[in-house]
Amino acid sequence: MAPWLPLLLASCLSWVARPASGSSNPPLAVNITWSSINFKTILEWQPKPVDYVYTVEIAGKRSNWKKTCIYTKGTECDVTNLVQDVNDTYTAHIFSEVATEDEIGVEELPYSNSEPFTPYKQTIIGKPGIKSFQYNTDHTKLHVVIEDPSTPYKLPSGTLKTIREIFKDDLKYTIYYWRASSTGRKQESTNTNEIEIHVDKGENYCFYAQATIPSRKELRNSQESQIVCTGHEGNSFNDYGIGMLVAIGIAAVVIILLIVALSVTLYKCRKLKNEEKAKENKSLNYI
Ligand SMILES: *[C@@H]1O[C@H](CO)[C@@H](O)[C@H](O)[C@H]1NC(C)=O
Ligand SMILES: *[C@@H]1O[C@H](CO)[C@@H](O)[C@H](O)[C@H]1NC(C)=O
Repeated sequence: MAPWLPLLLASCLSWVARPASGSSNPPLAVNITWSSINFKTILEWQPKPVDYVYTVEIAGKRSNWKKTCIYTKGTECDVTNLVQDVNDTYTAHIFSEVATEDEIGVEELPYSNSEPFTPYKQTIIGKPGIKSFQYNTDHTKLHVVIEDPSTPYKLPSGTLKTIREIFKDDLKYTIYYWRASSTGRKQESTNTNEIEIHVDKGENYCFYAQATIPSRKELRNSQESQIVCTGHEGNSFNDYGIGMLVAIGIAAVVIILLIVALSVTLYKCRKLKNEEKAKENKSLNYI
């Protein structure tokens, strides 16, 4: 028998035995997290893939498995459209697959499981808006209208659903308020989006709004709205964000001026020193 025959056979056999999707198993997704705010939901995981791809598959207790982000080389996937039944509890599989030219779906691919996720209970409620606010004519009450955060989901009319359209009566708002001249904070709650605060006549007030989902045990409170202060000349939004930007701007200008002043001073100093040195040299030369 020719000595090369067993070698040829062996390499033939190993080629036949080669699995369709590559010779080694790619790493599985780990640290899978659901990032969800106002029902916009992104699935995130690690590690970044090298030489392989991920595919996400999601099912609820009341819905069948659906694939999305097929063959992604990323480590996140927007699954908002697959978790629209907000009271359902979803689980995700993340498949790891070596990228090949071969037909896929022939064999069982390795995958990892996410934690279960229920949008109604787990999506974070974002900042509410302050739509309007107004004192009554004798300045004893402040009327505030709160704007619901909107969700990515659409009403049949095509406009975006707000969180009110999803939570309905299971959503209340609290206004935290204080006199502009003091820090004693009070609060007032409402089951609607409008609220009336009793205020001291002639005083200016600052306030912010926060939503609460009473049925929840965790993540009950929303993010806080911006702080709004009433002004002397009627009502005005006092956006702390803008105030901060202005402060940073002023600080930047001051720093730049300082640097300019410092470099001018240094330059003059050096020039003076050089002149003095030149003088010294000259006087030395004369000796
Ligand atoms: C998963 O998370 C842990 C803890 O945050 C971290 O130490 C680890 O590096 C993460 N795994 C990957 C593959 O990034
Ligand atoms: C979701 O569940 C809550 C109670 O947990 C219920 O009040 C609400 O109507 C349900 N919403 C939908 C859309 O099924």
